[in-house]
Amino acid sequence: MSDRIVSPGAEGIPEQVFDQTLRPRVLAEYIGQDQVKKNLSIFMQAAKKRTDVLEHVLLYGPPGLGKTTLANIIAHEMGVGIKTTSGPAIERAGDLAAILTNLNEGDVLFIDEIHRLNRIAEEYLYPAMEDYRLDIITGKGPSARTFRIDLPRFTVIGATTRIGLLTSALRDRFGVVYHLNFYSPDDCTEIVERSAKILKIQIDHDAAVEIGKRSRGTARISNRLLKRVRDFAEVEHEGHITHDIAKQALSDLLVDELGLDEIDHRILHAIIEKYQGGPVGVETLAATIAQESDTIEDVYEPFLLQIGFLIRTPRGRMVTRAAYEHLGIQFREREVSKQERLPL
Ligand code: ADE
Repeated sequence: MSDRIVSPGAEGIPEQVFDQTLRPRVLAEYIGQDQVKKNLSIFMQAAKKRTDVLEHVLLYGPPGLGKTTLANIIAHEMGVGIKTTSGPAIERAGDLAAILTNLNEGDVLFIDEIHRLNRIAEEYLYPAMEDYRLDIITGKGPSARTFRIDLPRFTVIGATTRIGLLTSALRDRFGVVYHLNFYSPDDCTEIVERSAKILKIQIDHDAAVEIGKRSRGTARISNRLLKRVRDFAEVEHEGHITHDIAKQALSDLLVDELGLDEIDHRILHAIIEKYQGGPVGVETLAATIAQESDTIEDVYEPFLLQIGFLIRTPRGRMVTRAAYEHLGIQFREREVSKQERLPL
């Protein structure tokens, strides 16, 4: 993934250390996602009252919205341990068995990118989630044997950016399924101010609002922009972030008034200039701007769809009039060919 300033990816150790200090540890510190918080809080209290384990939870939505943070908060509030893994990290049944047999009663097993779990691991996971048992098969043909291993009761928290890629069998094993939405600009402003306080950064309220507005509705981007703007403020203005400094720094970082960066601009310009505004298939678009199609779908496109700059049609992505206006390009209604008008 790119190292663009608005990239919500968590790659890079210093950034991770930075994220760690800022991560809320309890639900009360977690800003936004109010409905999810409210319901999770009820389910956690109910489970505790019954001295039961929490039901399996599936969290989905674009990267950088706090799925990992929520998983850690849940474990913390339930007073249990958490083991973290990811779909691609579990290659063989043995990998899963090693993790599951090391869990303590009530623990959380956090599986990031759960849509990338392979079929075999997924099938081992079913009885583990349903009946807290592992059925390990050894040997082949007539000499095949099944060993049953009883597991402690535990909670799987799965996270994915692509709910559509999960098999329905896996999805159905989660008692609680939540979509995390983009944060409002106000939520992002609050996140910026909370983080500034923790990091002892002096920032004016209107400067925090400016960063909040340009965070693409993504908590991780709020924190990252704050850090970058602080660099400008420290080098050029003795550290205090005023509105003018924030605006100047964000503009130097090529983050526009809506939080769109160079790559968002490349996506929109490519569709407008090379494909007359679309429709264009995501693979073709990816090749045109030299990005992975998965990255476009997971990282860039969701926000452009959310703000109404892109729409998805059966024939591909199209840029809307609002995007033309934002880019200062004259909108021309496209001649739709006869073929395109035919029903699918
Ligand atoms: N840092 C990352 N996500 C956050 C959130 N939702 N609330 C507060 N701080 C955060």
